[in-house]
This record gives sequence, C-alpha cells and structure tokens, in this order.
Amino acid sequence: MNAQNSRTLAIIGQGYVGLPLAMAACDAGWSVIGIDNSESKVAQISSGASPVEDISDIQLQIALASGAYRVSTDFSAVAQASVITVCVPTPLDKKREPDLSLLRSAVKAVAPFIAHETLVISESTSYPGTLRDVIIPIVDSLKSNDALTIYFASAPERVNPGDLIWNQKNTPRLVGAIDPISQSKALAFYQSICDVPVSVSSPEIAEAAKLLENTFRLVNIALINEFTKLCSVTGINVHEVIDSASTKPYGFMPFRPGVGVGGHCIPVDPLYLTWWARQNGHTAKFIEAADFINHEMPKYVGERALSMVAASINKPKVLILGVAYKPGVGDVRETPASELREYLETQGAEVAWFDPLVTNWGGTEPVDLQWECDVAILTIEQPGIRIELLVERGVQILDCTNSIKNLTGVTLL
Ligand SMILES: NC(=O)c1ccc[n+]([C@@H]2O[C@H](COP(=O)([O-])OP(=O)(O)OC[C@H]3O[C@@H](n4cnc5c(N)ncnc54)[C@H](O)[C@@H]3O)[C@@H](O)[C@H]2O)c1
Repeated sequence: MNAQNSRTLAIIGQGYVGLPLAMAACDAGWSVIGIDNSESKVAQISSGASPVEDISDIQLQIALASGAYRVSTDFSAVAQASVITVCVPTPLDKKREPDLSLLRSAVKAVAPFIAHETLVISESTSYPGTLRDVIIPIVDSLKSNDALTIYFASAPERVNPGDLIWNQKNTPRLVGAIDPISQSKALAFYQSICDVPVSVSSPEIAEAAKLLENTFRLVNIALINEFTKLCSVTGINVHEVIDSASTKPYGFMPFRPGVGVGGHCIPVDPLYLTWWARQNGHTAKFIEAADFINHEMPKYVGERALSMVAASINKPKVLILGVAYKPGVGDVRETPASELREYLETQGAEVAWFDPLVTNWGGTEPVDLQWECDVAILTIEQPGIRIELLVERGVQILDCTNSIKNLTGVTLL
C-alpha cells in the first residue's frame, strides 16, 4: 500500500497538543507515528510515561502495546503517512514577537520525506498567512520530485489541558484548506477523529479565528483584573459583582481576576495578532492595553500580600501556593507566578512555593505546607493544596481564587 492510501498519521511534536491527538487518532483506528526532536521526550513516551496530564500512563501504554502508536525522532518516518499534522510550539522571541523557528525547522525536517498526495495540516497556532506564506514555500522548495501533489490545510488546535468536559474529540474543529480537494481531505480526516469539524473558507480564516478566540479571553481577563482593583479600593467584593452580573441570561460572560495570564496560549497568541496588525500598518491598541494590564497584576498581588505583613518584619516570608499557570496542570510555562516571585524578591521578601503538581520550578524545589511564613498567596485553585493546614496555624492568606469560604485570616483579592 502506498502512503496516500494508508491510514497512517504522522504527528510532528508530541506535547500537549500532539500526544492527545495521537491517542484520539489511535482510538479512531489510525496507525500513528509520533515524531519529536527531543530524544528525552521520545524516550519518556516510549517507556509508557505520559508527559501530559490529559493522557494517562495506562492509555499511552495500551496504545504502545497495541502497535497502533509509536514514537520516534526519525523524521523520515513521515514517508509512510497519508496525513501529517504539525503540532510544534509557536512561542514569542525576546522582542515578544512571533518565533516560528521551531515550526520552520519541523517543516524543513519533514519536507524531503513527504509522499505524493499526502495531506499536510498545521495545528500550531500562528498568524494568518502562516500556512500559505511560511509552510507551503518551505515544503515546495524541499519536497522530493516524486511528491507532485501535496494537500495543505490549517486546523488550529483548541485543546484546553485539564478540561474535564471539552477535549480533542468533542470540541468543534475549524478546518480551512488551500483548495477544494485539500478541504475535502482535511474534513474527512477530522471527521474520523472529531465530532464536529467546521469547514471555513480558507486557512487564513481558521488561523485568524484561533487568534481571535484567545485574544477574546486576554482582553476580558484584563477587563476583570482592572475592575477588581477598582472594586478593591471601594470595598466591593468583585466576585459577588461578577456572580450578580452573570444572572443576566444574555450578553454577559463571567471572567475571573487573578495573578495574570499564563500558559503558552493566552499571553502569547494575542501578541501574534498585535504583530500581524503592525505588519499590516495598524496598531492593535486595545489588545496591547490588555496585555499591559495583565502584566501589572503580579505586582498588584505582591503589593496586596506584603501589605498584610506587619511593618516591623524586614524580610517577610511569603509562600506562593500554586505555581502552575492554571488549576489541574503542572505546566509552569509563562506562569504569572514567576513575575509575582520576582516582584516579591525585589521587595526583599523570602519566597517559597508549593504546588502539588509541580516538582521543580525554574530550578527551585517546593517547600511543604509547614513552612513558616508571614503571608501565603493562593494563586490558583490547584487540587491538593490543603489550605486548612495554614488556616489552623493562623497564617494570613491572600486568596486570588475566591475558593476559600468562611475561614479566618483570609483576604480576597
Ligand atoms: N497546549 C495547549 O493548551 C495548546 C492549545 C491549543 C493550541 N496550542 C498550540 O499548539 C502548538 C503546540 O503546543 P504544545 O502545547 O503542544 O507544545 P509542547 O511544548 O507541549 O509540545 C511541543 C512538542 O514539539 C516538540 N518540538 C519542538 N520543536 C520541534 C521540531 N522542530 N521538530 C519536532 N518536534 C519539535 C517538543 O519537543 C515538544 O515535545 C503551539 O502552536 C501552541 O500554541 C497549544
């Protein structure tokens, strides 16, 4: 059987997006080759230890043992695939602008091995035009002479790690391809693994929609963070206000305040949009303001926490509870807890941390909940933080989550 007739899927990048996709495709009867350039990641996955929370070791081990899934650093394996999905990171560079170097290097690595009539899909998040202006030219310049026709589509992943309801299968998937044949092939692929593929008219629509979705979250979180500061100075409980506004059955959607925004999507993707705006002669003022407001939050939270410590204490001891960027995951990428820690340290505080899902954070190790501190900051509602152990000891707690009810010594953000 040649590659275009095989039901073999190659996925480039085996992280939070690529590995769940691999498992979903195995469940749908695909033979899956996971390809990653990290030897340690490949060794870990091969040993049956899942690197992401949404995939259990057992699920991974079953897929490996069945032979439906294998993982490799060998990019030439894509030659066996009829569909190739690219799921590599698209971070920001030092100037906080799109860094497509990993995407480019992944596409360069697979391009010479892509077989004739293979469908290549980008699931990575990026600005409109990435498929057409970045990925396709690389493939065209490096593909083999035998690969006369290659199909291309963009289908940005929407997975929300740690979400118990919405997953890779039941979340509708935008699919936009460069021509009608690519579109029908891409839709057929997603119909096999996803309940609701949504056909859009171009890759640029799919790419732009993904950025809009995450920018929508960024600006609404910024609005609530700004509103929280206002409520705080006037003694109004912001959560009660949000709950009250949420009783309106239409036109309002609740967002909650916090230490800032973290992870590899919400703080990053909107800056792909602001960069794209600049390339097109515009300034996305509203998004830039939202980014600025969210980045002020760690300092604001730090100030609030330090204001709870007696002025006579020169070097306050501050315990950060929860350093992952959101509850239910151990992922610390772009976590706003980093800016919080930095701020507290610049103010002379001794800072320690605890997070049941994180064992190492920027080269530092956690303390336990018995650590003597002057104030604790609950940053996220991370499962497994036994807050009552601190309350019993009379520790002052700044609760950024509104999850601690009716306990003494707790101040709400
Ligand atoms: N994680 C999410 O919640 C989420 C949700 C939707 C979309 N996305 C987007 O999906 C893409 C992937 O994100 P992720 O969270 O899965 O990243 P990740 O860091 O969890 O995984 C990416 C994997 O790609 C590998 N990799 C990096 N460069 C490579 C290369 N050149 N060749 C082969 N492998 C390479 C890494 O070793 C890593 O294992 C990004 O564009 C991201 O914005 C992520």
